[in-house]
Amino acid sequence: MKPKIYITRKLPDIVVDRLREVCEVSMWEEEEKPVTREVLELEIRKVDGLLCTVSDTIDESLMNEASHLKIISNMAVGYNNIDINAASEKGIMVTNTPGVLTETTADLTFALLMATARRLIESSDYLRDGKWKSWYPMQLTGQDINGSTLGIIGMGRIGEALVKRAKGFDMKVLYSNRSRKLKVEEELGIEYVDKETLLQQSDFVCVLVPLTPETKNIIDKEELALMKSSSVLINTARGGVVNEKALYDALSSNKIWAAGLDVFEQEPVPTDHPLLTLPNVVAIPHIGSSSIPTRLRMAQLAATNLMDGVLGEIPKYLVK
Ligand code: NAP
Ligand code: GLV
Repeated sequence: MKPKIYITRKLPDIVVDRLREVCEVSMWEEEEKPVTREVLELEIRKVDGLLCTVSDTIDESLMNEASHLKIISNMAVGYNNIDINAASEKGIMVTNTPGVLTETTADLTFALLMATARRLIESSDYLRDGKWKSWYPMQLTGQDINGSTLGIIGMGRIGEALVKRAKGFDMKVLYSNRSRKLKVEEELGIEYVDKETLLQQSDFVCVLVPLTPETKNIIDKEELALMKSSSVLINTARGGVVNEKALYDALSSNKIWAAGLDVFEQEPVPTDHPLLTLPNVVAIPHIGSSSIPTRLRMAQLAATNLMDGVLGEIPKYLVK
């Protein structure tokens, strides 16, 4: 008998067909709407494996419904949507998809940095709204990227990939991290500093840490107070690493100059969220890894992890 699996979002046929070769597959068929909790509770009782995404909360009470679940395969590198400790206590493996999205997410992080610094969205709206009546010297002026200082909090895979982009723009790069990375410093020509120094000296601050109890609100009121009034904050990590109320206060009082946000505490972010009322916020809907080849690679890797788990192998990308 084939192992049973449930997939919480519609995946490309090529990936599902591969899974069907070895598993009995059920899948939530709606592409844009998330699976309901009721359906998830019913499905998890029946399956050996679950393939889920960042928009699914896989908590202890859901896992309590499972009777023979062996593996939860997350189609993402971040896995803060899953209660890892509960899974571990129940002997359920959890996997993620590191590496295959690193370059694409670094591209998006740099694109967001540039769009925010040079006010691209605001400028496009200005033109489309018929506000472009003439050219004048201080029209839609932004911040320089070339030659500026970039501070990266979290020098992991995506952090390192971001440095390579920044070096092409002659940026000086400072970083802070849980552990110091001497080899990376030497290879990429970057400088390790404490978080306070990074915040004080950087023109751009990018946060690239996973969301954990230690990194929750790693950027809060005190951190924003240290930043330059001309500085830009970019968050492509997770909403919870930045305190959104403190960020709103800092942006609306011009304590910092602008922010580019791909991620939010609540996703989808409510359209009446205070941050979305500010012209100096560029907000995009969690599209860091969203290129066609990368999303396909992530789905394939999540499928491989899942198949390994349900077939009794140890998957390569176990998170715990
Ligand atoms: P990674 O390689 O694991 O890098 C994470 C880095 O954060 C590591 O260098 C780690 O330090 C550091 N870190 C962890 N806890 C810390 C703490 N308390 N203080 C300071 N530094 C800490 O992960 P990655 O592949 O670069 O991905 C990073 C995160 O980006 C993911 O977890 C995910 O949440 C987010 N992400 C978002 C998108 C998107 O679509 N927006 C796409 C991909 C990823 P050590 O070196 O000491 O372990
Ligand atoms: C996306 O947010 C990921 O963690 O892969």
